Amino acid sequence: MAEGLGGEVGSLCVRAFPDGETYVRLEDDPRGRPVILCCTLHRPDIHVLPLLFAARTALDLGASSVGLVAPYLAYMRQDARFLPGEAITSSLFAELLSVGVDWLVTVDPHLHRRRSLAEIYSIPAVALSAVPLVAEWIHANVDHPVLVGPDAESAQWIERVAPLLDAPSVVLEKTRTGDREVTIASRTLEACAGRTPVLVDDIVSTGQTIAQTVRLLRQAGLRAPACIAIHAVFAKDAAAAIESAGAGRLVTTSTIAHRTNAIDVTALLVEGARRGAGLARRPAGGG
Ligand code: R5P
Repeated sequence: MAEGLGGEVGSLCVRAFPDGETYVRLEDDPRGRPVILCCTLHRPDIHVLPLLFAARTALDLGASSVGLVAPYLAYMRQDARFLPGEAITSSLFAELLSVGVDWLVTVDPHLHRRRSLAEIYSIPAVALSAVPLVAEWIHANVDHPVLVGPDAESAQWIERVAPLLDAPSVVLEKTRTGDREVTIASRTLEACAGRTPVLVDDIVSTGQTIAQTVRLLRQAGLRAPACIAIHAVFAKDAAAAIESAGAGRLVTTSTIAHRTNAIDVTALLVEGARRGAGLARRPAGGG
């Protein structure tokens, strides 16, 4: 990214004191310069405090602006109070980041009940999409694909990828009764006949959504599906669960480092960082 932006890679020291508190030191002088922190927010609770300390310290030391490139943006799925008393963490997390940095860039945030990041982020926030890159990968690697979305929330990705490939698509119905309890309703799979199913979802967490969909497709006698997730969150043994359910290839983008990464989003992030920096509201030179 630094090469693409014509910038320098700064050095940031983050460590824990013996009592568990966080120590942060910027090892380069940010005075008068725009600083971009790049931090994927997989396992957000570990990363957010050091990130906010680093951002505010850069401003304190005279950075002209501080932006955040978060290839994966966490806490987007709890976007409503499903049970009385629940925290709507997508809004609370957005409030926290909005006071810490001047702008934000991310890839395919999980926007479901909300239409845009602007509904919860008070800073300029750019949502990039890996959809064209996903379509390119499918075009290069799968013959006669049919796009399959495991649930209604995946429809927004399926509906954008399928036309780029001139391929048919089907979106299934999911019921979740617990963190790891998912059922996918069986429905007509006529569109899949003679084609290779390609499952596309934005996030794989426990892997149950994809694994149950793979089982359904295999039980219907279809070819081993290629499974693509944009964000490789992969809690514990999720990848193994999908593979043992009968998936063909399991592929993710590089928004979270994982052995399944096959679609590189660096160029996309560079473009996004340029756009984000252009939107920074902080007056030039004002730290
Ligand atoms: C929610 O609808 C998301 O798009 C994913 O389908 C979900 O996060 C996947 O979760 P899991 O892998 O735990 O089934």
